[in-house]
Amino acid sequence: PAFDLVVRNGRIATAADVFACDIGIRDGRIAALGEGLAGREEIDATGKWVLPGGIDSHVHISQPSGEGIVMADDFASATRSAALGGNTTVLPFCMQESGTTLRSAVSAYHAKAEGECYVDVSFHLIITDPSESVLGQELPALVADGYPSFKVFMTYEGLALTDRQILEVMEVARQTRALVMVHAENYDIIRFLTDRLEQDGRTAPRYHAASRPIIAEREATSRAISLAELSDVPLMVVHVSNREAMEEIRRAQAKGLKILGETCPQYLVLTAADLDGLNMEGAKYVCSPPPRDPASQEACWEGLQQGVFATFSSDHCPFRYDDPQGKLTPKGRTSFRWVPNGIPGVGARLPILFSEGVVKGRIDINRFVAVTATNHAKVYGLYPKKGTIAVGADADIAIWDPELTRTLTHDALQDGSDYTPYEGMEITGWPVLTMVRGRVVARDGVLTGAKGFGQHVPRRL
Ligand code: URP
Ligand code: ZN
Ligand code: ZN
Ligand code: ZN
Repeated sequence: PAFDLVVRNGRIATAADVFACDIGIRDGRIAALGEGLAGREEIDATGKWVLPGGIDSHVHISQPSGEGIVMADDFASATRSAALGGNTTVLPFCMQESGTTLRSAVSAYHAKAEGECYVDVSFHLIITDPSESVLGQELPALVADGYPSFKVFMTYEGLALTDRQILEVMEVARQTRALVMVHAENYDIIRFLTDRLEQDGRTAPRYHAASRPIIAEREATSRAISLAELSDVPLMVVHVSNREAMEEIRRAQAKGLKILGETCPQYLVLTAADLDGLNMEGAKYVCSPPPRDPASQEACWEGLQQGVFATFSSDHCPFRYDDPQGKLTPKGRTSFRWVPNGIPGVGARLPILFSEGVVKGRIDINRFVAVTATNHAKVYGLYPKKGTIAVGADADIAIWDPELTRTLTHDALQDGSDYTPYEGMEITGWPVLTMVRGRVVARDGVLTGAKGFGQHVPRRL
């Protein structure tokens, strides 16, 4: 036979097309699309969707998160859950720690990922200390080495940059053609409201949402866009949660600015009411920006439908709930201020969007592929190696059964956390096979890949 492996009889969807044919795979890449292809091995995809493997361009893995707090996933458990959830590539962050070099952060995260990953991995950077040497030497060298995207924070103790620092980072981005990603929330609004809430004894998890209102996100989004316009650089506004921030991005796009947006599952299917849980249960939903209300969910759907959001990512940032090193540290029990921000989602992202989006008719299959794979590859410099089904591309494929209905439970996700914020959702449409570079890494909910098969993929923009 001409091919190592052939996927037969499936219905293929890319971001642009739907067509029925066989996929011939050789040496880990798609070698042919055609009819009647023969392979040494064959996978029958009759009645299934054959889609580009999911790319999750916003995940946090093994990041230090404050004293006594431990992230629930390492690279093995996060990429295991990713594979089971139909993903073939994830983009986590190398976070610079204050007073250390960026290069040492990159080495440290590579060491953590080496030999551990089930799917392919490509790193962004997080810049927390834009010193002269970081801006002048390290950043340009790292962009050239395959790390052409970096996140900056407008809020969070120890992470937030001033507007001037953001401008300095953007200047380097313009010179090196890199992409800046921004966490847009107004730091002083949040600090002010948090202090007031605590003074009034309002310390339960639900007040996390009150401390970070839509106005704080909208203002920072508008300011970040202004800084990008001044700097003449593209900007990705990550984890957009509501209409006002979405409309800021839409307006900038209508003006011709290259402003991109991302939203996440928590903003489509959770609301601030989820933070109201009994006892400390609300801590399971503490993430930033917080989930909002049904009107905000509608706006986020609209942003996906109309192309305001290029990407749909998980912002996977897992902490265990019932664990003194997780959500409920001794300090975390005293106030929402100390509950680590972030929720797991790398395994749940695609089934949620397929079920709530494609099956319920909110988005079509091409939009699904665009916002879960193709656009991630294009925006971050992995395309056309990753993100589509085409001759020459890596054989990164997810086969979906559009009729399989199951209840979403944490146990099936196999991440390192002890809960999912999406427990109990009825989901129609599941990935039944995930293939990375021609190798089946998950099948029917069972991990079949090998730890260490996942490779680092350098990027270029
Ligand atoms: O609450 C969140 N989103 N935690 C993860 C870090 C970030 O800001 O994306
Ligand atoms: Zn963020
Ligand atoms: Zn994040
Ligand atoms: Zn469980």
